[in-house]
Amino acid sequence: MKTIKEVKETLRGICVSPSLLSCDFSKWAEEIETAKASGANLIHWDIMDAHFVPNLTFGHPVVKKLRPHSDLIFDVHLMIDDPVTYAPKFREAGADIITMHIESPAFDSPEKITTTLKGLKDSGCAVGLVVKPKTKAEAIFPYLDLCDIVLVMTVEPGFGGQSFMADMLPKIETLKSEVEKRGLDCAIEVDGGVDGETKDLCFKAGATAFVAGSYLFGKPDMAERIKAFYAMEKK
Ligand code: DX5
Ligand code: ZN
Repeated sequence: MKTIKEVKETLRGICVSPSLLSCDFSKWAEEIETAKASGANLIHWDIMDAHFVPNLTFGHPVVKKLRPHSDLIFDVHLMIDDPVTYAPKFREAGADIITMHIESPAFDSPEKITTTLKGLKDSGCAVGLVVKPKTKAEAIFPYLDLCDIVLVMTVEPGFGGQSFMADMLPKIETLKSEVEKRGLDCAIEVDGGVDGETKDLCFKAGATAFVAGSYLFGKPDMAERIKAFYAMEKK
């Protein structure tokens, strides 16, 4: 596993986080290895509980089992009702980055949010909050100073392969300018419908971390596709 220093250093550059939701679940370890060999510097885990979103994926035991198979940064996106209880379990399982939805029912007070973020940070984990498409960027402003990363959903969470919502671009810009205004060391990540074209729009708006599932997994030119993400920085 990487140290928080290494994770933060990686988050300061372009990050490509292939979403395992689109991988072949019969070959987890190989798929993670393929992502790494193709140049990814993060690997994205979509955790869904069939309550917060209408889909069910996998739990912390799966993350724990795969942890010894890879030194890639595990970027865990919790789409669950209760991150207060479960986020620490994902940290123990080996998550390097944990992002949690501000809309989660268990986040019913500002204290619960700050305590959960601080607890994870104290354990050496990079942390962040996520906003669904209908949630305003300003909802996470009170917690921005505690975030190493913020994740802007560019589709309604729950499923891979949906179309990118271009109307989320101003939200990325709003977050970027707030992060800059406060001088924070906080990356902006996007998730949903990210592909060879939409990535450029997100980068221009201020995102530097990119989750992509259906655009990357199972594609014979995955390495070429990933290369194009890093190339944006040099343009
Ligand atoms: C959706 C998930 C995404 C999903 C993205 O709720 O959070 O991470 O895997 O899939 P694509 O890139 O196919 O839109
Ligand atoms: Zn995700």
